[in-house]
Amino acid sequence: MKRIAIALSKGGVGKTTTAVNLADGLARSGKSVLMLDLDTQGQVAKALGIKANIGLAEFITGEASFEDSSIQARQNLWVLAGGRSMAGLKRLITRKDYGGEQTLTEGLKALDQKFDYAILDTAPGWDSLTVNALFYVEDVLAPVSLEVMTLQGLMDFSQSMSSIQKYHPDLTLKYILPTFFDRRVKKSAEILQQLESYFGERVCPPIRYNVRLSEAPGYGQTIFEYANNSPGAQDYQTLTERILNDE
Ligand SMILES: Nc1ncnc2c1ncn2[C@@H]1O[C@H](COP(=O)(O)OP(=O)(O)OP(=O)(O)O)[C@@H](O)[C@H]1O
Ligand SMILES: [Mg+2]
Repeated sequence: MKRIAIALSKGGVGKTTTAVNLADGLARSGKSVLMLDLDTQGQVAKALGIKANIGLAEFITGEASFEDSSIQARQNLWVLAGGRSMAGLKRLITRKDYGGEQTLTEGLKALDQKFDYAILDTAPGWDSLTVNALFYVEDVLAPVSLEVMTLQGLMDFSQSMSSIQKYHPDLTLKYILPTFFDRRVKKSAEILQQLESYFGERVCPPIRYNVRLSEAPGYGQTIFEYANNSPGAQDYQTLTERILNDE
């Protein structure tokens, strides 16, 4: 199973949008995908139009089986939802004397052979749940908004990641995904160029600013369902293919 965390400390850069649409893109291409929502906001389930009473927290603590805590949201796509109960899991992790950072990895071990991909949506900031996600995955995809100067944020995040890489050397900041790209805005192109000069091949083709992407979650649909001919759908299809090519 390939494990990819969508992460960046900065809020509102397109993490959830990317997690949901990439997961659906992979599922549509025939891969079996497990989505894990580590955010207390619980937006993954909402974006997919499903209602989850329990989810990832209950599965990790052993309160519920995978069958009871997961939801099959689409063909090939399963979700272990986030939400308020993730706060309880966070407390449980921080109370452990040692090994707290491996809580997620240990709890998910039984699922290793069941899916082609695990896609993790993480919360903004840097907390014990993010640290757990980074111990669990090998690859990180960091969305970077081109609307604001986030290069420093990305550098800081990559610095924080290196403290984990000491214990988990396979962890890599593999993909940098420019988001909110607007050709008409000069700054947008400038930041993109800067990203490419620092990070080279790791920078994926950008996701354009597209209002359809912000409307789709309100209908509980992915961009491929809501507006399959939109620029947003095209861009997330390109991303999906990039990830599939790295298999
Ligand atoms: N390319 C895009 N074009 C237009 N709107 C977008 C785009 N990507 C995301 N959005 C919208 O921007 C807002 C923030 O996106 P999203 O929730 O994916 O960010 P996030 O990084 O997950 O935020 P948080 O850090 O709060 O979890 C949402 O309303 C979303 O619908
Ligand atoms: Mg989010």
